[in-house]
Amino acid sequence: MSHYQNLAKNYGPTPFDAKRGEGVYLYDQEERRYLDFSSGIAVNALGHSHPTWVKAVQEQAAELVHCSNLFGIPSQQRLADRLVKYAGPGRILFCNSGAESNEALIKLARLHGAKRVGRKEGVCFGIVCAENAFHGRTFGGMAATPQEKIQGGFRPMLDGFSHAVLNDIKSFDTAIDNSTAAVFLESIQGEGGVFPADSGFLRELRALCTERGVLLMLDEVQCGIGRTGHFFAFEKSGVLPDAIGMAKGLGGGFPIGAIWMSEPYAELYQPGSHGTTFGGNPLACAAAHSVLDVIEREDLLKHVRAVSKNWHIELNQLVNDFPEIVAEVRGQGFMVGLALKCHLNEVVASVREKSLLVVPAGHQTLRLLPPLIATSEQLSESVQILKAALSELS
Ligand SMILES: Cc1ncc(COP(=O)(O)O)c(C=O)c1O
Repeated sequence: MSHYQNLAKNYGPTPFDAKRGEGVYLYDQEERRYLDFSSGIAVNALGHSHPTWVKAVQEQAAELVHCSNLFGIPSQQRLADRLVKYAGPGRILFCNSGAESNEALIKLARLHGAKRVGRKEGVCFGIVCAENAFHGRTFGGMAATPQEKIQGGFRPMLDGFSHAVLNDIKSFDTAIDNSTAAVFLESIQGEGGVFPADSGFLRELRALCTERGVLLMLDEVQCGIGRTGHFFAFEKSGVLPDAIGMAKGLGGGFPIGAIWMSEPYAELYQPGSHGTTFGGNPLACAAAHSVLDVIEREDLLKHVRAVSKNWHIELNQLVNDFPEIVAEVRGQGFMVGLALKCHLNEVVASVREKSLLVVPAGHQTLRLLPPLIATSEQLSESVQILKAALSELS
């Protein structure tokens, strides 16, 4: 009998029990060390137990952990100031997770739609998402995730969601109608298998949304906070969305999420329209400040851009070396998908046996999400391990 008999069965069997983490390494109960390129699914931006993060969280825990949003939290205001510097003029609303950030975006879309039609609720609340998207497991998130494996068993979904084809501007043009309040997509689809929204497509989509009076909302929960070598993945396109959802890497392991809203849409949220007990509490903010401190102090965006170049070259070599298994390499910076033709589960298990942790995604995609502190040697080591695993299977 499993010693986890009192846990819900919503996760499948796990390969080992985690014990501790240090930098890019995760250790199991037997003190076996793994090169952790899963990063808690794009969460541990600074790796495990980064000394700056640990100190910040310890000190904050000793001072004030939580006090609710009924009182001003100066570190939350300072965190908003810092995020606005990356995103642009606007306002930040804090929450606890990626799904919650998306809920806040969906509510923003509804407020926008209601305002557009003169507050007649229910007339203009449509949200156009992308096929193959993943936006979380809440009812809003599921409705925005047009995948049977996510929605199955939970219908009816929230009303008003439709979907179009990523990188196909005509498809979005057709999907947007008079009832549409927002377009909502990931700058790089993560769970769906690492499919980036092309820069040209994002620029056309920006123009289309402006022309039709529709919000452009980007989910940066997985691809944001430096993962691509830019603070936000969409930056490469030069586009400025109307709203952004973020979470995961923001707290470096402590749960915190946020949305950024550009002015004037930030005004749509007024006292009473949304709230959360924990969102942006002092401890969460201390964790997030320390993530930003290290990203800025150690110039990690530049680091990711610099070292990922050679890593991508090495990864692309796997396509040439193992053409019968590896189809292509997708992604940007430290968010990479190795599209396989077959053997996904076998490769994931084999590299784990060889002490490398990766995450499966979408259909036959092996995802590599190193912490932003990973060195070029560690990146190369991941390729050597993949090579060994692929050699055995080919
Ligand atoms: C793009 C994206 N949005 C939303 C979510 C949901 O985030 P959370 O699991 O923190 O609720 C995820 C999680 O993987 C994600 O990748």
